[in-house]
Amino acid sequence: MSQPVPGSPVTPLAEDLPVLRVAVLGAGTVGGEVLRLLSQQGEELAHRIGARLEVIGVAVRDRGRDRGQHVPAHLLTEDASQLVREADLVIEVMGGIEPARSLLLDAMAHGASVVTANKALLAQDGVSLYEAADDHRVDLSFEAAVAGAIPLVRPVRESLAGDRIQRVLGIVNGTTNYILDAMTSTGASFEDALATAQELGYAEADPTADVEGHDAAAKASILASLAFHTRVRLSDVHCEGITEVTAQDIAAAGRMGRTIKLLSIVERIQEEYGERISARVYPALIPETHPLASVSEAYNAVFIEAEAAGSLMFYGQGAGGAPTASAILGDVVSAARARVRGGVGPRESRYAELELIPLDELRSAFYVSLTVQDRPGVLAEIAGTLSGYGISISTIHQELIDPQDDGGEPASAHIGISTHRALESSMTASLDVFSATSTVLSIDSVLRIEGD
Ligand code: NAP
Ligand code: HSE
Repeated sequence: MSQPVPGSPVTPLAEDLPVLRVAVLGAGTVGGEVLRLLSQQGEELAHRIGARLEVIGVAVRDRGRDRGQHVPAHLLTEDASQLVREADLVIEVMGGIEPARSLLLDAMAHGASVVTANKALLAQDGVSLYEAADDHRVDLSFEAAVAGAIPLVRPVRESLAGDRIQRVLGIVNGTTNYILDAMTSTGASFEDALATAQELGYAEADPTADVEGHDAAAKASILASLAFHTRVRLSDVHCEGITEVTAQDIAAAGRMGRTIKLLSIVERIQEEYGERISARVYPALIPETHPLASVSEAYNAVFIEAEAAGSLMFYGQGAGGAPTASAILGDVVSAARARVRGGVGPRESRYAELELIPLDELRSAFYVSLTVQDRPGVLAEIAGTLSGYGISISTIHQELIDPQDDGGEPASAHIGISTHRALESSMTASLDVFSATSTVLSIDSVLRIEGD
């Protein structure tokens, strides 16, 4: 069958289509690429939508800076407040909480649909944004906020809307994956791997949000809210970053046939009297044979387990200007089509309001690394403490520390213990005992084991 040719009698000329006014907030890494795609693909987008997208302004902090051919100087403004009131569609790629939050609320109050990549804002204050979208019957879309180019929000929110998602497990932060991958392949320390990541532009000058796990936690809160039809806020997500992961931990993981990855895990847990959910982010040892173990550099990958669909895996670029802009443009086309048709897309779904399980009540397998005195009975004492709290040891690795290397101190040893699954509260209680005993000289690492 022949395709309608743009401009043929079957397809109206793009210039004859109605116009939707688009405001872009931010012209940085992502905003610059959004503007490039909007200008290069304007004609095709018009046909896909049934309306032309006209960029009426681009808000920045400093309109004096030259930003290249795709960010025309005459569109730049430092008055974002006025701009959002004149638009049908607002693309927010400025980041941060304020003024982004107020601008988006104002845009929706003036009838604009909103597309945002701002996971920090959604995780912290998604509730007020959702409510504004409902109140003003406009769309709020945010595919780019979770794992950049990878379609995740739409699959969870729409494609799997008829299924029951049990678990979402993945690597959703590229910076930390790059650092852990570099530590694994070169044996570098966290500090050296971070410095290399910054030199190569993978990590920002202030890497806090990434290395402390806050970025991954924001994404986990968004995924959990969508997957479990429950409002899950950033503060509901247990969050540990990778700053404490050492080269020794990476080596120990390797000896066990494992690798360390920063995981975001959101899951539904069936209990005797119903179900609760968990949302958490932490570095974990996973088997080298696990598909997530081979996710290298700054790539992201996410597994979704759904009752009827089974296991699904999503993989791709979780950051970067063009990949993130691709996800934004997808949302722009959907929101624009909805406006042309006169409807709105999916709303917030929070009917289930499932309770969150405190971390203490979860069960995990652990890897614990201790420096201990090297004398008879120490291993028995440690094993006794663990067994006293119902924790069963899976493997033990011991290395003696040469007194010469230890400043001539009495003989000591590193021991690495992996356990079977046990209650978090039991592990915390065991660690309290280890901290108080003189036979344990230091608790060097405590990491969870996942993916078996
Ligand atoms: P960026 O490079 O720092 O760009 C931010 C842009 O917003 C700049 O053009 C800046 O103006 C403008 N801006 C910031 N505050 C403003 C204010 N108060 N008023 C007016 N303009 C303001 O940031 P980005 O990397 O593009 O990230 C943008 C958003 O996308 C963030 O929410 C981020 O989390 C999200 N995101 C980014 C990536 C990525 O790979 N970069 C991936 C996924 C999601 P000036 O240029 O004048 O300073
Ligand atoms: N800083 C994020 C990352 C990209 O490293 O994955 C934006 O979500």
